[in-house]
Amino acid sequence: MYTSKELRKKYLQFFEQNGHAVIASASLIPENDPSVLFTTAGMHPLIPYLMGQPHPKGTKLCDVQKCVRTGDIEEVGDSSHLTFFEMLGNWSLGDYFKEQSITWSWQFLTDKQWLGLDPNRIAVSVFQGDEDCQRDEESASVWQKCGVPKERIFYLPKKNNWWIAGTTGPCGPDTEIFWDTGKPCCGPDCSPACDCGKYLEIWNNVFMQFNKLPDGSYQPLSQKNVDTGMGLERVVATLNGCQSVYEIDLFQDAIKTIEDLSQKQYGQEEKTTKAMRIIADHTRTATFMLGDEIGVVPSNVDKGYVLRRLIRRAVRFARQIGIEPIKLVELCQNYIQLYKDVYPELQQNHDKVIDEFTKEVERFTKTLELGEKEFFKVISHLPTKKVPGGTAFKLYDTFGFPIEITQELATENGYEVDLEGFKQKFAQHQAVSHASNEHFKGGLADNSQATTELHTATHLLQAALRKVLGDEVKQKGSNITTERLRFDFSFHRPVTPDELKEVQALVQDAIDRDLTVDCQTMTVAEAKEQGAIGLFESKYGEQVKVYTIGDFSKEICGGPHAEHTGTMGKFIIQKEQSSSAGVRRIKAVLQK
Ligand code: ALA
Repeated sequence: MYTSKELRKKYLQFFEQNGHAVIASASLIPENDPSVLFTTAGMHPLIPYLMGQPHPKGTKLCDVQKCVRTGDIEEVGDSSHLTFFEMLGNWSLGDYFKEQSITWSWQFLTDKQWLGLDPNRIAVSVFQGDEDCQRDEESASVWQKCGVPKERIFYLPKKNNWWIAGTTGPCGPDTEIFWDTGKPCCGPDCSPACDCGKYLEIWNNVFMQFNKLPDGSYQPLSQKNVDTGMGLERVVATLNGCQSVYEIDLFQDAIKTIEDLSQKQYGQEEKTTKAMRIIADHTRTATFMLGDEIGVVPSNVDKGYVLRRLIRRAVRFARQIGIEPIKLVELCQNYIQLYKDVYPELQQNHDKVIDEFTKEVERFTKTLELGEKEFFKVISHLPTKKVPGGTAFKLYDTFGFPIEITQELATENGYEVDLEGFKQKFAQHQAVSHASNEHFKGGLADNSQATTELHTATHLLQAALRKVLGDEVKQKGSNITTERLRFDFSFHRPVTPDELKEVQALVQDAIDRDLTVDCQTMTVAEAKEQGAIGLFESKYGEQVKVYTIGDFSKEICGGPHAEHTGTMGKFIIQKEQSSSAGVRRIKAVLQK
């Protein structure tokens, strides 16, 4: 079997031989980039260099980068989607461009000395052109020169063949490379743009030549770059002729453990196989998030919430196939063993991974047991196969039972959830508590007055820290209970007692001035333009809420918040300590 180790090695060797410097994988937690929650592509850590700053290692780089993408979480369980993956990438920072990039990709994929893939099963797409950028005939002609026949070159629009990380920044047309899985065409219009499964995307070469500005215009960059990304798991699967990414070396131990724990066989029955894949995927991603050099722990906001959701989904599917959830921790052990040579941080954070994972499973197991019992009790009395919105809301509100899980359970049992009704109930509830319905997305523990005020205090704290310590301070995590707030932020040294006093006094002053908390909805681009700070997973033109606290703070956030600061009482910083490398943690309370 062709292993992932071999592919990593060959890839780096190929590009090194062709003059590229190998750089290390960056953390999964993007540093100095509040526009995304996780590193979703190899280019994230390289943005300053794509924008023109010189890179210390030169103009040709390559690496293997750990990435997390949870946008397609519902697709996980099919043959190719994963929430964690390794991206093999090579970059030209104002060095080579289309012709060289495509020629190298072709050589690496098809040359017998390298991957030796069958050239007849490779298809490509190129940008079809629009008012912002011309049709990419240049790439098409290089592909033809390589030997790709016209009928396997597809011209596609921006939606398919344009890459940008988020909404603004370096971007450009791309050419994507697909493996023809051999499945029949789904119809006369079958192309790599459809999701029928005939074409599997394996590599993307982006020709970054523009900077997209917040007003939506495209400004030519000072240099033309190439940014490529190849999915390691997909290519290993392709090289081995596997039906899915779960059959490659990286999942063998995990699948075996899942089979042992469930006493069921992978590949025998569709639903069980899908559950096994989801468990294997989510536990792997959780292991990497917890074991990351910066790291994240489960919580109700931002990154912590994504992690919580992954672990909780894994638990749900484990229960579905008869695995005692707490046993999932064995999979974390498997993954640490498997990856420790490539990603030593996993071994270094071994205890943290195991402890935090275990705690989260235990917390959720309790919630689930109670919630499921209630779910079945309720549906046994329903006159139709529709779960009313109010019932779903009660499960969420009283039992902490996530709506996604109510939906999954309903579907599994032949029911449907009145989602609109749920949303309405949710909005009513929020209106009563003067909170925004984004609360659901943001996911605070509860919206009692105490947590709401602590949440507002967290914004004041971050603003005060930035005033005292400078812009290096960026939110790395936040966790709020009814008793206290906990705020993690990037800063390279301990905060001195005098600085802490100053921060505390600034927050208190903002409280005493009884500032108004104002909420406005706008696009991510507008928010950025107004200088709002905040962590968010950005999407094209996505509307976000911006909370402004008087003249003191402006932050993108889902809410909820206090309406004004005057009632918040006395703000007391209780503790300042290290959280992880380059990250400090403050715990604070509000005393009435
Ligand atoms: N940044 C490009 C991608 O992630 C290569 O597809």
